[in-house]
Parts: sequence; C-alpha cells; structure tokens
Amino acid sequence: MSLPDKVKIVEVSPRDGLQNEKNFIDTAIKIELVNRLSQAGFANVEAVSFVSPKWVPQMADGAEVMAGIHRRPGTIYSALTPNMRGLEAALAAGVDEVVIFGAASEAFSQKNINCSIEESIARFEPVAHAAKEAGLRLRGSISCALGCPYQGETPIASTVNVARRFLALGCDEIDVADTIGVGTARRVGEVMRAVTEVVDASRVAGHFHDTYGQALANILAAMQVGIQIFHSSVAGLGGCPYAKGATGNVATEDVLYMLHGMGIETGVDLDAVIDIGQWISGHVGKKPASRAGNAMAAKKAA
Ligand code: HMG
Ligand code: MG
Repeated sequence: MSLPDKVKIVEVSPRDGLQNEKNFIDTAIKIELVNRLSQAGFANVEAVSFVSPKWVPQMADGAEVMAGIHRRPGTIYSALTPNMRGLEAALAAGVDEVVIFGAASEAFSQKNINCSIEESIARFEPVAHAAKEAGLRLRGSISCALGCPYQGETPIASTVNVARRFLALGCDEIDVADTIGVGTARRVGEVMRAVTEVVDASRVAGHFHDTYGQALANILAAMQVGIQIFHSSVAGLGGCPYAKGATGNVATEDVLYMLHGMGIETGVDLDAVIDIGQWISGHVGKKPASRAGNAMAAKKAA
C-alpha cells in the first residue's frame, strides 16, 4: 500500500505527557502549553483528563485548564473520561471530544481503571451514549494493544475484540496503544491489519510509546497498512502511572521530522514545536527526549 499524503497528529503531551510527573505542574503552565500547541497548528490536542485525583493527582486541575485556554478554531480539544462523573466534568468544561480508555489486557484494566475489560465496557456505555447525545466526538483508546507489563504479549484477538466493542459504542476514532512501547514493526503491521478488518483504517490511530526505541519504525509500519492518525508528545514527555518503566510517547519533533522529510503533510509548524519542547522540558525539569528536537535546537543556538 502506498503511504499517505497527509497525517493527523494528536498531540497528547498536556495529558499523557504530564500525567506521570510527580511535581505538580502549575495550571498556568498547562494552559500555556495547550495554547502554544494549538497555535503550532495541531488539529487535535489531548488537553486534560477527568479522572479521580486520588489516582492521578497531576490531572486534578482539568476544569481550570479548559477554562483558561484560548480555543483555536480548527483544533479539537480532548479529555479522558473513565466514567459518568468524568463525562459530566468534560461537558461542563466544553471539550470537543471525550476519550474512553480500556485495555486489551485484563491485568492492566484492573491496575489502570480498577475493573475488568467487560466491566469497563459496561461503564463506558452510558458515557458513550451521553457523549453522542451531547454531539461530542468519541474516541476509544485500547491500552496494551501490543503487550502488557503484567501479562506479556497481547493476543491480536484481544485487541480486535476491544476495537469491535468500541466501534459498537459509537467511537469515531479508535487508538491502538502500545502503552509500554514493546511492539516491533512486523507485529504492529499485523495488529493494525487485523484491527482495520473491523474498523475502517481512516478511523484508527497509532499511539506508540518509545520505551524500546521502536516508535518511528512502528509508525512507518502502521502507515504501510493504511493508518493516517498518530499520537505523539512534544519532547517525548510521558508515561503511564500504571505501567512502570514505560517512558514517554514518541516525541512529536521526531515524528514531524520523519513525516515532513518523507513529504507527508501534517499542518504543524516543526520549528514552533522545537521551541515548545525545549520550553516545557525546562518546566518539567527534564532534558528533552527528542533527537530531532535537540539537534535542531542546537543548530538554532549555534
Ligand atoms: P475506583 O476507585 O474504582 O472508583 O476508580 P470509585 O468510583 O470508587 O472512585 C474513587 C474516588 O474517586 C471517589 O472519591 C470518587 O468520587 C472519585 P472518594 O469518594 O473516595 O472521595 N472519582 C472521581 N473524581 C473525579 N473525576 C472522576 C472520578 N471518578 C471517581 N471522573 C476510576 C475508578 C476509573 C475513577 C479510577 O481508577 C481512575 O480515575 N483511574 C484513572 C486512570 C488514569 O487516568 N490512567 C492514566 C490514563 S490511561 C493511559 O495513560 C493510557 C493511554 O495513554 C493509552 C496508552 O498509552 O495505553 C490512554
Ligand atoms: Mg499513553
């Protein structure tokens, strides 16, 4: 299959990137991050999550972040909503898209959202229904779609099963997420091919963590089977509190460098993203993890 001309990048650093940070990042910094990202041209920014603050304290200020941002027309602002309480908060905050998040692995489902896969689907039913009633976009994220920190390699049938259930709940987009970054290109191609037999490829996204340095290869493998939506995080920030050792999402700068280099359009200003990556890393107290970002920042400084 030929590669796409255009790819949509969902920038997840305000949520997936920051959720794992131990020191609380000021609300004003989160607001500035979301604003700078939308100004850089991202069509979709995963801005906040409305989850239990006991489980993920860093995301406790989601309502304030949403109230403080400047909405750029053309950008979809998303929020994670694990239950009706989360959905109500998302509706009050005026998000454009809500994300239900389940796992392809039983053990991870228990650790992350404290229930079985089946129970999670039942819990998502009213959330999905209410989201659709309110006219919101609905996205379903499948964690541990390639492998699980507790159960090892995920059977392809488990991932396809959750994809099928999410589709039945009315999801507009479905994320195949390699939460711990263990997948390699051939397997990613196989999983994506199997998922796209159930869900149209135009509605499937790849969410790759770069723990084992495989994310760019996996994005290429996914594009080769027709996937055109990818998630990434500026400066490679991120990690999941319930997936020990899982490092950040693939760095947005690296993804943009690869895609633009291949002549694939994203609508995002890479130069602006380089500056955002350096800036937010300073606030988080980390060295930016993007190879392309660091190389280009060094060139700019020279
Ligand atoms: P629970 O303890 O089973 O449920 O948590 P609960 O209903 O008993 O709630 C516990 C407490 O949280 C209660 O407070 C609730 O009121 C409160 P208390 O009575 O003890 O004072 N609560 C809430 N507060 C605010 N907003 C809410 C909410 N819901 C309950 N929406 C629950 C179940 C799902 C709530 C919990 O497990 C949870 O919040 N988990 C969060 C998990 C999470 O955010 N994980 C990280 C994101 S997923 C991810 O990173 C993967 C992804 O990136 C893709 C990938 O890479 O794989 C998406
Ligand atoms: Mg993630």
